[in-house]
Amino acid sequence: MIKYTIQHIKDFKKASEPFATLTAYDFTSAQILDEAKIPLILVGDSASMVMYGYDTTVPVSMDEMMLVVRAVTRGAKHSLVVADMPFLSYQPSIEETMKNAGLFLKKGNASAVKLEGGVHVETHISSLVNSGIPVLGHVGLTPQSYHQLSGYKIQGKTPREAQKIIDDAMAVQNSGAFGVVLECIPSLLAQEITNMLTIPTIGIGSGKSCDGQIQVFHDILGFSAAKAPKHAKQYGNMYTNVLEIVKNYKSDIEKT
Ligand code: KIV
Repeated sequence: MIKYTIQHIKDFKKASEPFATLTAYDFTSAQILDEAKIPLILVGDSASMVMYGYDTTVPVSMDEMMLVVRAVTRGAKHSLVVADMPFLSYQPSIEETMKNAGLFLKKGNASAVKLEGGVHVETHISSLVNSGIPVLGHVGLTPQSYHQLSGYKIQGKTPREAQKIIDDAMAVQNSGAFGVVLECIPSLLAQEITNMLTIPTIGIGSGKSCDGQIQVFHDILGFSAAKAPKHAKQYGNMYTNVLEIVKNYKSDIEKT
């Protein structure tokens, strides 16, 4: 079975081949995604909500992310694993960025890191790339700026906002990232950016024109008590199924 690399991800765009990526946060789900030949697994900072029960991605720490990154890389033998840099693990300085991204590769065994932002993190990205750490960018709705954005909303609806997202995506490419996540932007804007860039775009809630797509594992499984975002098609109802199994187990034991 193929061992996916950065080059494979770039080649999908060159070949105009759409590709599916997903998040994972533990060993078993990483094994499943790996067996399904998902080329790229993101250990998203959505772990903050999905694994740790926080309300947003703001509180999750480097130590908490490191635990899930290490579990996923033990399970994924073929998928490329990208570790998401948590809030304030890179924003304060280039030194912090280098130290924390380096830890994800050295201790976490990840192959690349993801960070949010465009023009303002150009130097952060180029410093990592120049040191041999591949970077996936993330523009549009950047959930770590939840408070600054006054909640999770579609971004880029006005011409001014749209131009800012285009500038951010260009900055991510120019600083050497191998790809960029476009989160919750209008599909026409995502199409324009996808046509403009030479690196692959990976969309979430941004229409079908992106080169690849990403979703949160628990959202497509229906494996959460909370309602999944509208853009996440649910392929199952795992929460209800698991609840049923646990109830059946409980009543079996109670009967004996
Ligand atoms: O943390 C996350 O799950 C993400 C998304 C792009 C899926 O950043």
